[in-house]
Amino acid sequence: MDTIKKIPVILDGDPGHDDAIAWVLAKSSPLLDIRAVTSVCGNQTIEKTTYNALRICTLIGNHAPFGVGRPRPLVAEPIVVPTVHGKSGLDGPVLPEPDFEPCGLDAPALMEKVIEESIDPVTIVPTGPLTNVAALLLTRPDLKDKIARISLMGGGIAYGNWTPAAEFNILVDPEAAKIVFESGIPIIMAGLDVTEKALVFPEDFERIRAVGNKVAQVVADWLEFFYGFHRNLGYPGAPVHDAVAVAALVKPELMTTRDLFVQVETAGDYCKGCTVGDWYGVTGKAPNATCILDIDRQGFVDLLVEAVKTYD
Ligand code: RIB
Ligand code: CA
Repeated sequence: MDTIKKIPVILDGDPGHDDAIAWVLAKSSPLLDIRAVTSVCGNQTIEKTTYNALRICTLIGNHAPFGVGRPRPLVAEPIVVPTVHGKSGLDGPVLPEPDFEPCGLDAPALMEKVIEESIDPVTIVPTGPLTNVAALLLTRPDLKDKIARISLMGGGIAYGNWTPAAEFNILVDPEAAKIVFESGIPIIMAGLDVTEKALVFPEDFERIRAVGNKVAQVVADWLEFFYGFHRNLGYPGAPVHDAVAVAALVKPELMTTRDLFVQVETAGDYCKGCTVGDWYGVTGKAPNATCILDIDRQGFVDLLVEAVKTYD
């Protein structure tokens, strides 16, 4: 009988409701082997994102080695956003207290260890600012060949969300993003072009809740909380940005993509943090990113429903 060859992955995020749902999806998939989880300073302080990450891992029974991330971006000042994810960085349902501790290595050092020890090239899935990944690449550029790809949520070819030009994760640490996009490592970019279409509607929350287990109920509550912020902006559902970076690995057939050369703007009066995509190939440079532009929304929701069914 054929056995599935799992993709070794490192989950790196600043959870965050949509990071949390991304990790629920990752843990549910028989295609992924989670080798490590790391926190990063993003939507909240590193103390808060670390605590949230440990609670999520406890909820979903993921006890892969955990590394605490860098406390601040490489150069820029941190930007925390209590309006989006709440004061705790993950407001909403009550979560279990962590039942395990970080492993003692910081995030870049844990990534280094996992990648070095892996027989197969490892895929990194960042769903927050790219600080940890850039720190790894700065200290161990020799490991690039052992990184299969970076499937990230960040940026946007057409527009931003935190400024007209910049998406939040890239804006928080543009210098880190520049290092990642210039690394030569294959990149899958789940930017706003697709993640704003990865909408989960209120009737979908109820489909998820009806699955009935603890994880399903928490996911439905997270979606409700996250939707609260977006409803006030006129969204018809919750854009589950970060889960697209995982879905791109486990169900790529849901995605419409285009390979582009993407550069990150680190300066400028209006465009700092912009991911500038060369749509017409005017630079003559080879594409460095597979940009996801569209998604089968219903297929994405179905994937989330099937994911929560795998929990007890
Ligand atoms: O712009 C979307 C990103 O910022 C996502 O990673 C989400 O978690 C938010 O904090
Ligand atoms: Ca995030």
